[in-house]
This record gives sequence, C-alpha cells and structure tokens, in this order.
Amino acid sequence: MRAAIRADVRRRARAARRGTSPKPVPSLPNSPSTAYTTPTHPVPGPNPTELTQTTLARAKQYILPVYARPDFVVVKGAGCRVWDADGREFLDFTAGIAVNALGHADAGVAEVLRQQASTLLHASNAVYNAPAAALAEKLVTLTQVAGGLGYVPSAHPTTAPGAKVFFANSGTEANEGALKIARMAGKVRGGQHGKKHAIVCFAHSFHGRSLGALSVTQNAKYQTPFEPLIPGVRVGKLNEHSGLDTLIDEDVCGVILEPIQGEGGVNAAEAGWIREVARRAREVGAVLIYDEIQCGLYRSGTLWAHSTWPADCQPDVVTMAKPLANGYPIGAVLVRDAVAEVMTAGSHGTTFGGSPLACAVGLHVLGRLSDPHFLGHAAETGAYLLARLERLAGWFPGVVEPRIRGRGLILGLVLPKAGHPARLVELARERGLLLLTAGSDCVRLVPSLNVSVAEVGRAVDVIESCLGVMSSEPA
Ligand SMILES: Cc1ncc(COP(=O)(O)O)c(C=O)c1O
Repeated sequence: MRAAIRADVRRRARAARRGTSPKPVPSLPNSPSTAYTTPTHPVPGPNPTELTQTTLARAKQYILPVYARPDFVVVKGAGCRVWDADGREFLDFTAGIAVNALGHADAGVAEVLRQQASTLLHASNAVYNAPAAALAEKLVTLTQVAGGLGYVPSAHPTTAPGAKVFFANSGTEANEGALKIARMAGKVRGGQHGKKHAIVCFAHSFHGRSLGALSVTQNAKYQTPFEPLIPGVRVGKLNEHSGLDTLIDEDVCGVILEPIQGEGGVNAAEAGWIREVARRAREVGAVLIYDEIQCGLYRSGTLWAHSTWPADCQPDVVTMAKPLANGYPIGAVLVRDAVAEVMTAGSHGTTFGGSPLACAVGLHVLGRLSDPHFLGHAAETGAYLLARLERLAGWFPGVVEPRIRGRGLILGLVLPKAGHPARLVELARERGLLLLTAGSDCVRLVPSLNVSVAEVGRAVDVIESCLGVMSSEPA
C-alpha cells in the first residue's frame, strides 16, 4: 500500500512538472478478482481451424524440436494483444520475451521498414551506411545524457571521453562480441603475463546459446550437453561479497553480468556488491561488461538499468538487443573508447550486423522510447502494476512471496513452491493472458512499455483469479 501511495505522489509530481493533470489511475481493489476463474482459452482449442492444424503438423514434422511450446498458433498482433489462428485474443505480457517495447504491429515501425527496405536494405560492412552511423551516435549521446557506461546523467551530450558501437544481429552475438573485446583487451593489457584470458560470470545468468555466450551462461540444462565449453570461465554468486578478490584476479580479462537477471529469476544486482565488483575489475584491468539485453533500453525505467548508478559502478561495455528494433533482429555492443581502441580493422565482423534496415528501425524505436511522455506513461503503468502485485502476498500467503523482484516493467512475482510458476503461466494462458516463468521460482512480467493501465488491470485480475484456483488445488 505504501508503495502505491508513493507511486501516486510521484505521478502527481511528474504531472505537475509537465503542467498537466494526472490521468486517473484506477484505485486498488480490496479483494482479489475472481472474474477469470473459468478457462476461456483452452490450449489446444476445442475447434482448431485448418490453419492451426496444418501449422502444428508441419512445425512438428519439419522444425527442430528445441522449443517446448503449447499447441496454438499466433497469427497477428496489435499493441499488447495477439490473436491465434482460431481467432482468439490473448493479452501478451511477454512482449515476445521483452522485445516488442512498442507493442505488436506498430505503424511507425512498419512504415520505417517499408521505406528503408525499398531504399537500401543491405549493403555489407565493406561500405559505410547512414542509418548505422546515426544509430551509433544516438546510442552514445542518449547514454551521455541519461547516464551509463561511466557517464553520469547530464543535460547535454559530451564529447569526451567517447564511446563506439559494434552492431550484431542478436543478443548472443552482441555478448560474443563483448567477450572477444575482453579477450583482446586481455592480450593487450596482459603484456608479459601472457595468460590474462579468464572470464568471470555469475550463477543464474543468461547470456546466450553460442559456445562463448553459453560458456558464461551458468545453467547445467543448457551447458552440460555441449561440454567441453570454452576454458577459463569462473562462476561467482550474484550479490555475494566474499571471495571477490580471488574470483577476479590478474588472470581475468573480462567480467560479465546482468544488472537485473532476466531468465535467471528477475534478480537485481545490489549497489554495494556492484561497487566491489567494479572496483576489483578495475584494479586487475578486467573489462567490465553489463548485459542489458533484457533489462536495458528503458525496461527498468531508465535507459540502462545501471544509468543512475554512480560512475564507479558503471561498466566498460554494455550489450543490448531485444527491443532495439522492436522485433526486427539487431544486437549491439557499446564500448568506452579506452577499451574500443584495442579493436582494429579485421579483428571482428559480421555480414548482416549494422544493416541499413535494422539500424533505421533501431533509430526510430530509440527516438520513440526516449520520449519523456512515453517514459512518463511507462513509469505510471509500471507503478500501478507493482502496486497491484504487492497486494497478492496478503491474499495468497504461502503461495506468493511479499517481495516483488525487479523494477519498471521487468517485474517478477515469486512463487516458491516447485511447479507453481509454470502452473500459473498455464492457467493464465487458458484465460487469455500470456506470461513467462523465470528461474525456478518466478513468474516474469515484461509487457510492452506502452501497455495501458486498463491492460495491466486485466492482467492482474487474471493472475488473481488463477492464484485463487491454485490455492484450492491439492498440494
Ligand atoms: C540477458 C540476456 N542476454 C542474452 C540473451 C540472448 O539473446 P538472443 O536470444 O537474442 O541471442 C538473452 C535472451 O533472452 C538475455 O535475456
């Protein structure tokens, strides 16, 4: 309740600064919703259309079965909603796994795609292209103003020190690039030492599926079948202070972490711990990499989840991907000049990274996401979502833990009983709401950043109804 009042005060203060009156936010309910107790969207559906049946049959016969997915076929989207091939509407609180920050089928994104695709879609990295240069500049100048990568928030971009961008095609590829930059810096900085190539990562992290990124993704389910992985990877524990000096020693060339772990359970790194990690990385000359692929680009409320941290807690390298082009594939590595200078022509590259099409879309998306009115709206809906989620533990004690993880619009509802997160996701889907699990004990809410208060209200009503169902199920 206190959080809700704080949120309301913040909202009114923001509205006063803008000279507008705050939009009315619904008051918080006094009891949990039971409006969605009965399933409305069973999966598989009762009368699958021809399209559903042929798509499922083809996919099962011809697509490599690496994904566990329920038997329904998504055919179109609009904003925070998607429709299946049987015509049923779902409220999408997954945003394509934290990707569609502007929602599905955004008209502005579609128009940029149309224009750029009919002008210059791909050109190769043997030549310069204007959208890539403009997007790189935008990423650096926005970071200089909003804070991050060693810049404290400031009203104006600065010219020194500078930063450079490498464009890739996915989150994994961005992290792969960042790890290679750390290796290269280790070679250059290691000098006579000659063995500065160890990399430090942290338990429950997720950095991707290529062999390099997988080697720092500490999850036996993903790693074991593909061992041996790259040597020299050390694993620490998030927010554990003891042993940091031995974990990060002179042999370490890079330290990679997520400021807010996404897949691993929406676990936020604590400021005091981050300061120690950053201090030690600097002491031994290791490149500090923050993977903001899921939590970055305004999802946590600021440009980067680390934007408001003090400069001594900030990284040398930031990786990003998911929402940068609202679903069109893109990844990027943002590097301080002092580290970027170790990379030279030919030391890294990619065919598709930095294509005019991906970068034109990225430029458009970043312009929209960074608009103060857009961010004010996302802050309001995020505060309302948090306030609604904070009530759940009181109504469902023993099922939901009181502390909500994460911030902004990356929030985690903790359900400590084994199997409960997956059960909630399943029950919600049967009632037309798409959610994700995270780690072993968490349901993750990562809707589009332009989700409306009404959509948040409906989603939480569904969650409350499902928790009611779960509470009456045998243990
Ligand atoms: C934090 C983080 N890093 C890296 C990745 C990998 O990104 P991609 O799936 O685009 O390769 C993900 C994907 O979920 C992620 O959440």
